[in-house]
Amino acid sequence: MKINVLILPGDGIGAEVTREAVRVLTRVCDKFGHQANLTEGLLGGIAIHKTGGPLPEETVRLALAADATLMGAVGLPEFDNVAPEKRPEKGLLGIRKVLGVYANLRPVKTYKALIDSSPLKNHLVEGTDMIIVRELTGGLYYGTPRGISGEGDQERGVNTMTYTRAEIARISRMAFHLARNRRKKVTSVDKSNVLETSQLWRKVVVEVAAEFPDVQLDHLLVDNCAMQLVLNPRRFDVVVTENMFGDILSDEGAVLAGSIGMLPSASIGDRKPSGAWAGLYEPVHGSAPDIAGQNKANPLGAIGSVAALLEYSFGLKEEAAAVNAAMEAVLNSGRVTADLKPAGAPATTAEVGQAVCEAI
Ligand code: IPM
Ligand code: MG
Repeated sequence: MKINVLILPGDGIGAEVTREAVRVLTRVCDKFGHQANLTEGLLGGIAIHKTGGPLPEETVRLALAADATLMGAVGLPEFDNVAPEKRPEKGLLGIRKVLGVYANLRPVKTYKALIDSSPLKNHLVEGTDMIIVRELTGGLYYGTPRGISGEGDQERGVNTMTYTRAEIARISRMAFHLARNRRKKVTSVDKSNVLETSQLWRKVVVEVAAEFPDVQLDHLLVDNCAMQLVLNPRRFDVVVTENMFGDILSDEGAVLAGSIGMLPSASIGDRKPSGAWAGLYEPVHGSAPDIAGQNKANPLGAIGSVAALLEYSFGLKEEAAAVNAAMEAVLNSGRVTADLKPAGAPATTAEVGQAVCEAI
């Protein structure tokens, strides 16, 4: 099979972890006889430096031509006080929209070897296995009107949370389909006691649920969900929610699993003419400028994103399983980066990538 992938290393540790992810992708393609056609592009702060904008036209062209995109992370502290329009993050929001990847899947799974790095007591977190399905191309992140206007005490900031029935229905269907292959339970998260968007959300989710009588649906308000995630994480199977709630809850979910450095994410859209599913794959973590360039970032979130890419965009389940099994073997061997608090000396980013390749 031809695996056409655009690589966008981005900023900070993005470049380091993506280098290891690409090594793993190349290794698994060699082993299973696939042809990896990789192109590379600019996104985020590095793109601002080199081209003046966070999402160059060339990157858009390459992303639309590829079947899937593998991304590192974007964001640099020098842009901290810059308007949202001109920030590296704008490039990420732009490419999500351009690719139409409306469903962001963030699995939260505890690994035996990592149970002690979770901030929760072992008996609470053991056996946690959920997937957060975050709506990714709507809501507060994209709603208009938006902006800052006026002066003095009357200076005002505005953002708009908006959802259409169609947007809610397609993300709900994605959640129910995923649940069918898991424990058949969907929890929809909203704030319907306050927000109209959430009332529509709940109504549409209930309608879609009727198409999936074999899947059980319940609803949680987002504040309660934040609490239940730490009180009883095992109760969750598939969690579906709007963009901003999903952003917040998925960071909370990430730390349950031990380290945010471990978590992959997959953002999926519609099927492409090639037969592959449009997808953007990135670790959940950010660019971590404080440890960039030191060869100590955990590449496993990025490597897990390669597994997700193989499975979701190309339907290559066996290949994805090989990557996941290799990751688990490396975790069990204890050769892991400092964030996972290994008993011995921590491994470097490159050493972990190398170990995963060898285990494949
Ligand atoms: C994420 C990140 C992004 C988001 C930022 C970097 C714009 O936090 O992918 O969760 O908010 O979507
Ligand atoms: Mg986030």
